[in-house]
Amino acid sequence: MNLLYEGKAKKVFRTDNENEYIVYFKDDATAFNGEKRSEVNEKGIVNNRISSLIFELLHQKGIDNHFIKMVSDREMLVKKVDIISLEVIVRNIGAGSICKRLGIEEGKKFKKSILEFSYKSDEYKDPLINEDHILVLDIANEEEIKIIKEYATKVNEVLKEFFSKVDLTLVDFKLEFGKHESKIILADEISPDTCRLWDINSNEKLDKDRFRQDLGKVIEGYKEVLNRIQK
Ligand code: C5P
Repeated sequence: MNLLYEGKAKKVFRTDNENEYIVYFKDDATAFNGEKRSEVNEKGIVNNRISSLIFELLHQKGIDNHFIKMVSDREMLVKKVDIISLEVIVRNIGAGSICKRLGIEEGKKFKKSILEFSYKSDEYKDPLINEDHILVLDIANEEEIKIIKEYATKVNEVLKEFFSKVDLTLVDFKLEFGKHESKIILADEISPDTCRLWDINSNEKLDKDRFRQDLGKVIEGYKEVLNRIQK
């Protein structure tokens, strides 16, 4: 297969069909803009499963996304998209960078969800940007920003409810969008690498913070999420 792009946790391959790509999920784990690196055995397999289940759910809820089908343990077939250079972050509860940036206590429940944009750039370390930056830097136009915000809000509503049914709190998450035949659709992955998920009763972290904070049992946390949602 023809490698198109290799990121920190995934590879993207071209296929014989020019409208479709294969996404391959690796076991590599990185944090803090690549400063911390390791491998988490089987992470790629678990994240492929979790992402596939979530993208299917989002399809059912009318949220257009790149997922077509899982084709192997580590691979999903997706619609070809041109990725928009934005990380769209939705936060329901204080954790991670917002706590450091604004002195917010971890675990604080926000009275409304917070939407943030970062510019996807390894060189500039994914800086936080606002809608004016997005327009002036030609990352997206006004109509596209509106669609992205609507999608992000809808995904939050769907996923908060979905995870709460299996006793998981959706603390925050990151989305990426792409253009497929000039239409904006949801892309990338949705997994414990890109979401913070806490057990609803104990607040135990079952996501990438286990890796970031050296809490141990990283894959066990991811597998717990998968076990709960695939029932
Ligand atoms: O680090 P921060 O608190 O800003 O992350 C917010 C959310 O976005 C977390 O769920 C984190 O896993 C996710 N994220 C991501 N990829 C990044 C940055 C953040 O998936 N490059």
